[in-house]
Amino acid sequence: MQSVLDILEKKISSVMAEVTGQGGCPALVKPATDPRFGDYQVNGVMPLAKQLKTNPRKLAEQIVAKLVETSSIEHQVSSIEVAGPGFINLRLKPEFVAENFLQVSKDPARLGIEKTEKPKTIVVDFSGPNIAKQMHVGHLRSTIIGDCICRLLEFEGHTVIRQNHIGDWGTHFGMLICYFFQKFPDASIEKLGPSIGVVSGISVADMNIPDMEAFYREAKKIYDSDTAFASKSREYVVKLQSGDPKICAIWQFIRSQSLYYSYDLYHKLNVTLSEKHVRGESEYNNDLPEIVKELKKKGLAVESEGAICVFPEGFKDKEGKPLPVLVQKSDEAYLYATTDLAAIRYRVGELKADEIIYVTDARQSLHFDMVFAVAEKAGWAKREMLHHVTFGSVLGENGKPLKTRSGENVKLKELLDEAVERARKIVNEKNPVLTKDEKDRIAKAVGIGAVKYADYSNNRTSDYIFSFNKMLAMEGNTAPYMQYAYARVKSINRKGGERGIDVEKEMAGLKAVSLTEPSELDLAKHLIRYGEAVEAALADYRPNYLTSYLYDLAQKFSTFYNDCPVLDADPDKRPTRLLLCDLTARTIKHGLSELLGIEVVDEM
Ligand code: ARG
Repeated sequence: MQSVLDILEKKISSVMAEVTGQGGCPALVKPATDPRFGDYQVNGVMPLAKQLKTNPRKLAEQIVAKLVETSSIEHQVSSIEVAGPGFINLRLKPEFVAENFLQVSKDPARLGIEKTEKPKTIVVDFSGPNIAKQMHVGHLRSTIIGDCICRLLEFEGHTVIRQNHIGDWGTHFGMLICYFFQKFPDASIEKLGPSIGVVSGISVADMNIPDMEAFYREAKKIYDSDTAFASKSREYVVKLQSGDPKICAIWQFIRSQSLYYSYDLYHKLNVTLSEKHVRGESEYNNDLPEIVKELKKKGLAVESEGAICVFPEGFKDKEGKPLPVLVQKSDEAYLYATTDLAAIRYRVGELKADEIIYVTDARQSLHFDMVFAVAEKAGWAKREMLHHVTFGSVLGENGKPLKTRSGENVKLKELLDEAVERARKIVNEKNPVLTKDEKDRIAKAVGIGAVKYADYSNNRTSDYIFSFNKMLAMEGNTAPYMQYAYARVKSINRKGGERGIDVEKEMAGLKAVSLTEPSELDLAKHLIRYGEAVEAALADYRPNYLTSYLYDLAQKFSTFYNDCPVLDADPDKRPTRLLLCDLTARTIKHGLSELLGIEVVDEM
């Protein structure tokens, strides 16, 4: 069904064309910034007046007069007035809200939100952990923000291709392989192939590397202190790069050990990333010589101090000297940027991406800006197809980057485990009669949900302070508060059932609704505007617009529920109120579980 915004935009634009005799003048209807002045405001009059060199307020008055005279939006709007230098404020008619609300409630899958008319193929590059180093809180944001972006895009009707650009290549693998031989001296490698089973002679369980980060640290320690080990490591790098099958098999083993850890976390986090989305740096190896060759052929890459660089226009260092993108070092090694260029070429050329979205922390902004500029110059992508979605840091309660007490990086797995444990305590206190299974399920939903929701509800570009107490609070804009709101609405239905009220039947029988109480109208109006929140979140890749919407919804529901009896309402009022509860629950559920990947529970 058409959204309220679209209906108003079309009708008002056409009246604007009629008044001015100018076709194609958009009304630019937007949600009002302050509900005291109305529900929507028309922003398109001022630019149009400027174009026509006429007084914007006068023009706005003419347009309003025409809207009234032609009754164009009489059905939707109860008040319409010119404001400020030439805005038009609009307020929706309660009857129209009621009618629209009933329609939305009959669209369970999409809650009144239409799919895009222009579906695209969009690559989303997110998570990107580095092999052999454990994922830490820094990777949390990319993983969950990226996941939300994918869910939003898919809901809008786009085709999303997830790409997990893992860091699975580099000289440090020489060191890891060397350490592997030291740790598993009995590993004889006979049969070779691309999976773990290839390293035989010793059982896979024995070779399990439970703590990859420790494995990496130990290897590095020896590498730094033992010259024989270091030179052996370098030999392995050469062997790995030349494709020595034994060495490649061990690399593969280390890589998959590390990846299993990531999959486990993805599963815990309830994100939509899996094995099939991994396409790491190593997969672009064979393309790299060609990338450099092509850049040279196009006259973009030049030699500078022995290395091969591209100097994209407009990038200067502090002294005003042109900044290079290094694509090959003097020792012939390729770089992070070279791989990213190859990835762009692959994604546009092979995956047929119309757009590519990168989700990484803000410190990589310059890297992407420059890579995007080079990719455009080389003709591999248009600049406007490429987006870098950035985010700030996660800080500890002391305002410094989150660390453990002993100063180490906090591991994501431990963080999530602690969140679930803390949630379990809360559930135990609040609802001790639940079974153990129920408590487990709720603790997981609340604990993981709290960590994710806290991240989503912060403006992604700012840093935020990680606080278990705050994110697990039952009051405020938190996951537990939203999950509780959902459970509370669900319990109304349950109680209705216990009292012999056929809730489903009452709602299904509704042919029309009337919203007489202000809090009913306010809630219904918010419910029919869910699509605006989804659109805002997507327009700027900001999940916090969605969490704000949901929080407002829960609060409006609270007000309504305090003001208006539901189960005890008069028989003619009850079905409408049951439907208000029901659509509230469905909207919260959709927002939390479909778009944010946060589970809801029926009781808490
Ligand atoms: N592995 C990188 C890191 O940990 C993130 C990869 C981001 N994606 C990309 N195409 N460069 O910083």
